[in-house]
Order: sequence, then C-alpha cells, then structure tokens
Amino acid sequence: MKLTLRVWRQQNADAPGTMATYPVDGISEDMSFLEMLDTLNEELTLKGEEPVAFDHDCREGICGACSLVINGDAHGPERTTTCQLHMRSFDDGDTIDVEPWRAAAFPVVKDLVVDRSAFDRIIQSGGYISAPTGAAPEAHSTPVPKPDADFAFEHAECIGCGACVAACPNGSAMLFTSAKINHLNVLPQGAPERETRVLDMVAQMDEEGFGGCTLTGECATACPKGIPLPSIAAMNKEWLRATRKVSR
Ligand code: FES
Repeated sequence: MKLTLRVWRQQNADAPGTMATYPVDGISEDMSFLEMLDTLNEELTLKGEEPVAFDHDCREGICGACSLVINGDAHGPERTTTCQLHMRSFDDGDTIDVEPWRAAAFPVVKDLVVDRSAFDRIIQSGGYISAPTGAAPEAHSTPVPKPDADFAFEHAECIGCGACVAACPNGSAMLFTSAKINHLNVLPQGAPERETRVLDMVAQMDEEGFGGCTLTGECATACPKGIPLPSIAAMNKEWLRATRKVSR
C-alpha cells in the first residue's frame, strides 16, 4: 500500500504544533497501525530526521498506552486500540490524519504523546482496599452474586487509554472514572471504602479539569473495551448515595 500521512508534530508542550505530510510506501495490509508508523520512523531516521514520538507498550490491546486520533476518531475507524488496528482497514492511496488525544487535561508532551497522569491521580485518590490480602482465599469464602461479578468484570476491562476523553466534545473523564469506581464498589471487598472512594475520585476528576458529561455518548462509542454508557449513571447513583452517608 502507498499512503500519505499527515502527522501532528510538536516539539514540546510549549511549542506550536503543525501537521507534517509524509508519503509511505510498501505498507502491508497485515501491519498494525503502529508497525506502519515504525516504518515511517525508520525512513525518517535513515534520512537523519527526527522520528515521530508516539506512545505504545504491549501492542496487544491490554495496557492502554497507545493513543492516536486517526482521521478524527479516537483509535481510528475500528472499535479497538490503535495497536490492534490493522492497515487492512484503509485503502491503497489513502491520506490518513494522525493526531494526539486532544483534551485540556491531557497536555501534549511531544508529537503524538500526551500526559495522561491525571488518570493516575484519579485512581490514587480512590485510596487502597482494606480487605485483607495474602494467600489466595477459598473461592467461595466471600460469596458474590453472579450479576455483581459480571458487572465488576465488565467495568474492570477499562485499560485507561483515555479514548473516552479524546472522543468527548467536553473532554469528560466520567466513563473512565465510573469504570474504576464501579468495578470496586459493587464487590464486598470494595465495600469498606465505598463512599470515600467515589467522593474522592469524582472530586479529583473535577480538579484535573475534565469537562462534565452531557450524555453525548461518544465516550462509550470510542471505548475499545466496550465500557457501557450506563456506567456513568451507576457512578452518579453511587456519588449521591455517598453524599447522604458521609458528612464532610
Ligand atoms: S500498546 Fe498496549 S493497548 Fe495498545
């Protein structure tokens, strides 16, 4: 495949950015999108130019490190992570725009890399689980109703990539935050800190400068792990419940 890439280049957080155009040739449709960018970077390096900076780690759709807006869509045209997007989703001769996540709370570090440490601080604000750990307990020692276990697993799938924020016109992190709260709050092991967890994480989310939710639903559409939109309603319910139980 022969493609034209229009890639966001930005030297650092304070420098102005611009789209740079690069032709790439010899791209296999079986390559992942990141392997295609590797090919571009090898060519740039051989020419003595600076390679394009982009985030990646596992390249297996697990870690949440990859984060590109491709032709205006977070993670591109398929409902998957950028690392699991393959070039067969594009046509020979295509022009492809590649940009970083764009949100006030995710400042650009360089080129396509953004600072997502706001997510880390939201998780940290939730505190720890005080349930005793150690040797694995007998599986049935703490009964968990099947619907609750399914609910917890569904929300625990969030990999924290930030596509929800990038897709949201408000730059809201409510889908991410709700996934992190819901997967713990529904389980008996998460019950001791149930109220403080939701109050602190929502407060931190607001402090980080993420926008509010207006239920456009773009977040759930872009989420590569299928975290559902009602997750936000469940978080709001938890938050209301906690405000009645905890006086601060
Ligand atoms: S690099 Fe780990 S999810 Fe894409």
